[in-house]
Amino acid sequence: MSNRSYKIGVIKGDGIGPEIIDEAIKVLDAVSVQEDFTLKYEEMLLGGAAIDETGIPLPDETVNGVKKCDSVLFGAIGGPKWDNLERHLRPESGLLALRKAMGTFANLRPAMVYDELVNASSLKPEVIKGADIMVVRELTGGIYFGQPRELHENEAFNTMRYTREEVIRISKVAFEIAMKRDKRICSVDKANVLEVSQFWREIVEEVSTEYPEVELSHMYVDNAAMQLIRDPKQFDVILTGNIFGDILSDAASMLSGSIGLLPSASTGMGVGLYEPIHGSAPDIAGQGIANPLATISSASMMLRYALGENDAADRIDNAIKRALSEGYRTGDLGDYDAKEICSCTEMGDIIANYASK
Ligand code: IPM
Ligand code: MG
Repeated sequence: MSNRSYKIGVIKGDGIGPEIIDEAIKVLDAVSVQEDFTLKYEEMLLGGAAIDETGIPLPDETVNGVKKCDSVLFGAIGGPKWDNLERHLRPESGLLALRKAMGTFANLRPAMVYDELVNASSLKPEVIKGADIMVVRELTGGIYFGQPRELHENEAFNTMRYTREEVIRISKVAFEIAMKRDKRICSVDKANVLEVSQFWREIVEEVSTEYPEVELSHMYVDNAAMQLIRDPKQFDVILTGNIFGDILSDAASMLSGSIGLLPSASTGMGVGLYEPIHGSAPDIAGQGIANPLATISSASMMLRYALGENDAADRIDNAIKRALSEGYRTGDLGDYDAKEICSCTEMGDIIANYASK
């Protein structure tokens, strides 16, 4: 009997959040048995679910609770029910405040193309086959958090702001990751228009002198959006700020065929937050048709990066590849090369089963 035991904060959230988290937990339980460690889960409230229960999107119990965990697995938040609330009371504000409170300034969003799914993308197979990108998105600064921000009747504004320290630390994360990959970074900004981007670019250049082996290039964000679709294989690591990273990671997700496939890890100063990059998809919530693979992959990233349980993570990654190569698909992946269209729970069952072999 091993004595490896971890406490996992679980935030199911809204919309499809609870469905996809349940499948991820099913898979985590399966691999923990195989690899002989124990996971203890503690559920916490965030977003709409928290608003309904407590009146606010991020209760203190959640902020305090996550700090006592080894890691946190998160589903998704938001939905039409809470859309008319004032900004600071909306579900999204809860998520942003949680990321800030946890100090998770580095959001790693891998966009990889499963060979089995090259036909599921809206892009041509020859354009995407073999693409493998890591988007490193700064997550707790930039225009999402900059002050001042105001909304008036005839005027509204936000502030895009970065400090030297913020750019240095996210750049270092990107360079460290690039050292373990193909040693190429493309830093994305809008330095032809924005002072904050000019500043970003200069600091990334400074940090790059500490990593002579890594090839650094810069690209304007509009061009990067275009290049991601035109020739995604030119990218290895993309380093960018908060809002550009939000937009580019959604675009990059379409290389894989579905935004329902891509995981993310938000790390930085301590406990990390592992979450799919997609939202709460209220339009399909409760129908059992959501794709749980992005969340299951996020659980795998959690095992690997937060807990060091690499064998368990490998089991999950291999199980996903096997299920896809055998033709199991959720509806969002279309029926290309599909043997069977599965429900959310069926996909979870298949992955849990293959991960246990
Ligand atoms: C994401 C989401 C969030 C973001 C929203 C829900 C606040 O789009 O994680 O990409 O913009 O960061
Ligand atoms: Mg987003």
